[in-house]
Amino acid sequence: TSLAHVVAVDGPSGVGKGMVTRALTARLPGWHLLDSGALYRLLALAAHQTGIELTDAKALAALAPNLDIKFSETEEKQELIILNNQDVTRLVRTETTGGMASKIASIPEVRVALLERQHAFRQNPGLIADGRDIGTVIFPDAVLKIFLDASPDERARRRLNQLREAGISATLDDLRTEIFQRDERDRSRAVAPLVPASDAVTIDTTSMPPAEVLAKVDELLKSRGLI
Ligand code: CDP
Ligand code: CDP
Repeated sequence: TSLAHVVAVDGPSGVGKGMVTRALTARLPGWHLLDSGALYRLLALAAHQTGIELTDAKALAALAPNLDIKFSETEEKQELIILNNQDVTRLVRTETTGGMASKIASIPEVRVALLERQHAFRQNPGLIADGRDIGTVIFPDAVLKIFLDASPDERARRRLNQLREAGISATLDDLRTEIFQRDERDRSRAVAPLVPASDAVTIDTTSMPPAEVLAKVDELLKSRGLI
């Protein structure tokens, strides 16, 4: 039995991975979806809620397999994330949670604990997965690896708009600082740092509107014979 195809979408925060991933699900009907960042965010939230220190490698690794996570959608097609029977959809997306996720993501035991959970998403007809190390560590045999990039200022602006649309208040200055710190931590960690895979296609989206990014993605899908 051959393994299902994987399309990997990696890159720093606020670069458009979610946007590209959603477009890919429309292009590749029936394919499964892995938002790997959400797993780190959910583990961080669960640890925070149960009073586990974000530096406690052992307790975090023990908690990982026991999280009851449900990814679904509301009737209006809005994302819905349930953690241990609690609706955490909004809580998961805050920058505070992103920061906590990035802290625990530098712990090797945490990454190991979440590895199997991520591999389990690989099922026919295929998997679209986004994160930081999908193309380098999690699925190095992905059929297509897209690495998205954009200037830090542009990413902070995008995140601000996005949070405001979701009714979450934030300021550009705070976001910029938080995103810089998080990126720095993600790029400099010893295990699975944020770097493009050697065979990834990098798209700098700084001055690209979403439609232009998606046109490029379509080109890549065609080049791999996926559409
Ligand atoms: O998932 P990630 O943190 O990488 O980013 P995202 O949530 O997909 O994108 C952040 C925001 O930037 C979204 O609201 C996108 O619509 C927007 N975006 C954009 O304005 N221009 C692009 N070329 C890509 C994304
Ligand atoms: O949406 P955004 O790009 O801001 O973040 P995310 O993809 O939800 O990831 C949150 C944090 O989880 C990142 O800052 C990383 O520290 C960590 N992460 C990781 O280490 N490896 C992944 N494959 C995905 C996320």
